[in-house]
Amino acid sequence: MKDIPILFSQEEIANRVLALGKEINRDYAGKTNILVLSILKGSFIFTADLVRYLNFSLDLEFMEISSYRNGSVQGELLSGKLPCDVQGKNILIVEDIIDTGKSAQFLISLLQKSGVASIGMVALLIKPDKHILTMPVPYRGFEIGDQFVVGYGMDYNGKFRNLPYIGVV
Ligand code: IMP
Ligand code: MG
Repeated sequence: MKDIPILFSQEEIANRVLALGKEINRDYAGKTNILVLSILKGSFIFTADLVRYLNFSLDLEFMEISSYRNGSVQGELLSGKLPCDVQGKNILIVEDIIDTGKSAQFLISLLQKSGVASIGMVALLIKPDKHILTMPVPYRGFEIGDQFVVGYGMDYNGKFRNLPYIGVV
C-alpha cells in the first residue's frame, strides 16, 4: 500500500472535513428532524469524521446502493432500499465521491417519492464535468479530475479502504 501516491493527505482531509462541518452547522442551525443518510461502503470513514463536527441533533442511517446488469436492459440498474421512514425529514446525503452521479441521483429520486421535507448533499469528492445530478451539491470537499482514487473509505476491487489518505491508482 505504501506505493500509492498521495492526492490529499490526512491533514488536508481533516481540515476540509472540519470546514464542511462548519458550513453545514451554519446552514442547518434551527432545523429539526434531520436525518444524515450515509451511502455505504465508501462513505463510512468520511461520515464518522463529519458527524463528529455537527453540533445539532440528528439521526444517522446507512444504506447500500448496488448496481447490477440485466441482460434485457441496456446499461446498469441500481437498487437500494431506504433504511427507515423518511417522511417529513430533512435529509443530508453523505457521499464519498460523485463520479457519474448515478448513485446519488437514484437516491434523490427515491427520496423525492417518499415525502421528505428537504434533501441536501455533501460529497467529499466530486468529478465535476461528468455528473448528471438534477440538484446542486452545496457541500463538496474537493473537486478532482478524471482520476480513480482510493483510501479514506474508498476502494479499488474492495481494497485500500483503510488507507488513511486519499491516493490515486
Ligand atoms: P457514481 O458514478 O457517481 O454513481 O459513483 C458511484 C460510486 O462509485 C461512488 O459512490 C463511489 O463509491 C464509487 N466511485 C466512483 N468513482 C470512484 C473512484 O475514483 N474511486 C473509488 N470509488 C469510486
Ligand atoms: Mg459511494
